[in-house]
Amino acid sequence: MTVGKEIPRLSVRGLQVAFRAGKDWVTVVDDVSFSVQGSEVLGLVGESGSGKSLSCLAVMGLAGDSGARIRKGSIQLDGVELVGLSERELENRRGNEIAMVFQEPMTSLNPAFTIGDQIGEVLRRHRSMPRKQARAAAIAVLDRVGIPDATRRVGAYPFEFSGGMQQRAMIAMAIACEPSVLIADEATTALDVTVQAQILDLLRDMRAQLDMAIVFVTHNMGVVADICDRVAVMYAGQIVEEADVRTLFRNPRHPYTEGLLRCTPRLSGRADRLPVIPGSTPLPAEFATGCRFGERCSYHSASCDEPVPLTLSHKDSQVRCVRSAELTLGGGVS
Ligand SMILES: Nc1ncnc2c1ncn2[C@@H]1O[C@H](COP(=O)(O)OP(=O)(O)O)[C@@H](O)[C@H]1O
Ligand SMILES: [Mg+2]
Repeated sequence: MTVGKEIPRLSVRGLQVAFRAGKDWVTVVDDVSFSVQGSEVLGLVGESGSGKSLSCLAVMGLAGDSGARIRKGSIQLDGVELVGLSERELENRRGNEIAMVFQEPMTSLNPAFTIGDQIGEVLRRHRSMPRKQARAAAIAVLDRVGIPDATRRVGAYPFEFSGGMQQRAMIAMAIACEPSVLIADEATTALDVTVQAQILDLLRDMRAQLDMAIVFVTHNMGVVADICDRVAVMYAGQIVEEADVRTLFRNPRHPYTEGLLRCTPRLSGRADRLPVIPGSTPLPAEFATGCRFGERCSYHSASCDEPVPLTLSHKDSQVRCVRSAELTLGGGVS
């Protein structure tokens, strides 16, 4: 990990993403800011529907594919502003300087083409490699991500790979051009724990070998503890807390983070008595003007009904809770 004061690899500031609903816009991602430096791994965590994927798609310039639009904010990749770039300019950066691995392999792997053709295509487009050279480079990158017998497997179709191998193939495709930022969106969620651990090891290796920063999206706090250096917690389209992983686990500052940690199974704990946070995530059209977690929060008071900005809590940490300083919250995992 290198965390310095250099220009962040990726810097997202005040990102707002909305969908059109009739004449109106429904804001789904609101005032999201985060950055990654050097080769650090930033975890983006939160319950399903909190806006993690949409934030990542916006960063990739792909939010429009699902009908959403960036309404406000800045996204800088190695100091270059991406918001406002043409589709062609974004395409040049996608897969080249920034790449994404999706939860579902079939979101990026085309069942009709061989794995080698699909990785080769990325290299031919961004590196202008002739076909033969692209094939050799595809074998090298498959080998790098731990696909056994890559020379033979390069000619396989996605269905001939197991789930873990498909995930490796997607990682191969994503890192083929050695991007400076990799976004992994629930990339290990669908895998069983053994394969998940292998993929986390692979991501750690690739991060070190390629000096690449990773935005690791998950709803699994155990995985966060395993791979992340820093964590940003999302709730209802906003970041509610950001801190280094140790601080966040030991000393959460937001009641929602405390709730997430309490719901994380401990190795020594009794899994049959895992608590849940009562209530459910509000729908975007129903976000409160004050704290969006307010209606589920056991520390709610009248002061929580005004809009809450994200503020610096202690060294390098931020929190979106007006009561943060007066609350004593507990970590879930030591
Ligand atoms: N195409 C769409 N049209 C309208 N709303 C959408 C669309 N896609 C996602 N959403 C809404 O955006 C919110 C965030 O979704 P998403 O970013 O996928 O969450 P997460 O990845 O955290 O589970 C959800 O409330 C979801 O219902
Ligand atoms: Mg998602």
